[in-house]
Amino acid sequence: MTSERMRSARELWGGHFATDAAPLMERINASVGFDKRLWAEDVRGSIAHARMLAARGILPPADRDAILAGLEAIAREIEEGRFVFDPKLEDVHLNIEARLTERIGEAGRRLHTARSRNDQVATDMRLWAKAACARADELLRRLQRVLIDRAEEHAADVMPGFTHLQAAQPVTLGHHLLAYVEMLGRDRSRFADALARMDECPLGAAALAGTSFPIDREATARELGFARPMANSIDAVSDRDFLLDYLSAAAIASVHLSRLAEELVLWSTPQFGFVKLPEAFTSGSSIMPQKRNPDAAELVRGKSGRVIGHLVALLTVLKGLPLAYSKDMQEDKEGVFDTADTLELCLAATAAMLEGARFDTARMRAAAGIGHTTATDLADWLVRVKGVPFREAHGIAARAVRRAEERGCGLEDLPDSELLALDARLDPGVREVLGVDRSVASRTSFGGTAPVRVREAIEAARRRFLEEVPEAGA
Ligand code: ARG
Repeated sequence: MTSERMRSARELWGGHFATDAAPLMERINASVGFDKRLWAEDVRGSIAHARMLAARGILPPADRDAILAGLEAIAREIEEGRFVFDPKLEDVHLNIEARLTERIGEAGRRLHTARSRNDQVATDMRLWAKAACARADELLRRLQRVLIDRAEEHAADVMPGFTHLQAAQPVTLGHHLLAYVEMLGRDRSRFADALARMDECPLGAAALAGTSFPIDREATARELGFARPMANSIDAVSDRDFLLDYLSAAAIASVHLSRLAEELVLWSTPQFGFVKLPEAFTSGSSIMPQKRNPDAAELVRGKSGRVIGHLVALLTVLKGLPLAYSKDMQEDKEGVFDTADTLELCLAATAAMLEGARFDTARMRAAAGIGHTTATDLADWLVRVKGVPFREAHGIAARAVRRAEERGCGLEDLPDSELLALDARLDPGVREVLGVDRSVASRTSFGGTAPVRVREAIEAARRRFLEEVPEAGA
């Protein structure tokens, strides 16, 4: 049995609406243009709801079976691109419900018993956001793997470490790359926290007050894969903090990606010359033949702006809303969808760029010595070997830097006589710490840049983040 198709959402509220929606009303009100992305979650939620209604004797088994078959057929229509979403029916929820009634008749009209679009949309969004958290985790993990592999390759390759973007002390490239592995690890834990917190089911909160029907919220929560039903029906339909959790985790991850991208942009300039990005991720200039522009890295950097914007936008939408549901909350969707699309694209592009990047280790090594980056090592040597108090040693090292600058040479190029003239304790023994390799090798404190520590950190990172057991003896 089929019945006539509902043509407009207005037919649903029937009686007291005599006129059609103004065309402008339709434009401002309809969300189906973007919330159709929730169709799979919406169908899942309806299936769970119909099963529960039947189990509780609220819906006859025959109606349940018709509803389940109808929803499955609709899912296939959508998958195969045969479903026509109609803005007159406002949103994905009414589009699917109208089609269901069109297909199965009367039984379709019973599906909305003991629920509202308010708990329906909150459920759909939670299901969607949980999956988005899981996808972010997987893509972050893949990027960590690329970083760890590249760090292993360059565990002992020396480069300048910077503070204030001034050469500060030599570090290894492996150590520098592992810094991002840590950041991304925290990003993953933020998504995991967000996921755990949003793992409660709003379905059954109905419009805001719960329902007089003997529903089983535990059953629908369980069937939809939630840990439990949400405890308060007003909260269940009112809050979108679970999306704020997702958006803020995404915003922070985007900031990390942006900083990494900025380093790739900087390092790939001819002035730095530390890295050559894969040609497939760069572009040329239409006017300057010599150029190779790091477009993909620039866009990863630039796209962090919209992700941060979506977080601020939703915070602003929510901040003045009285409980419970208000239509303002429909504004949550586009920003969340765009955040997921943007973040996922940026994570994949960054991983691919890093995978194909060629680091110019000779150039990095040469740059590591520029700017007297072993001055701290000279001071530390005076403290360690000669018992000089650090503040005094710092002054002696500063004078050595000045002397090297006057002579236009590196610290290690100062003749023995010059060093002894600066301070009698600066005997030739100090040379053992003045090269960049020795400097780096000496930084053996936990979390430090010495290659032995970096190799340990790589093994630990594989265990912590990739759950890989390093081969014995490797
Ligand atoms: N499209 C709506 C949204 O995304 C669904 C909920 C509508 N609820 C209502 N009471 N009009 O927020």
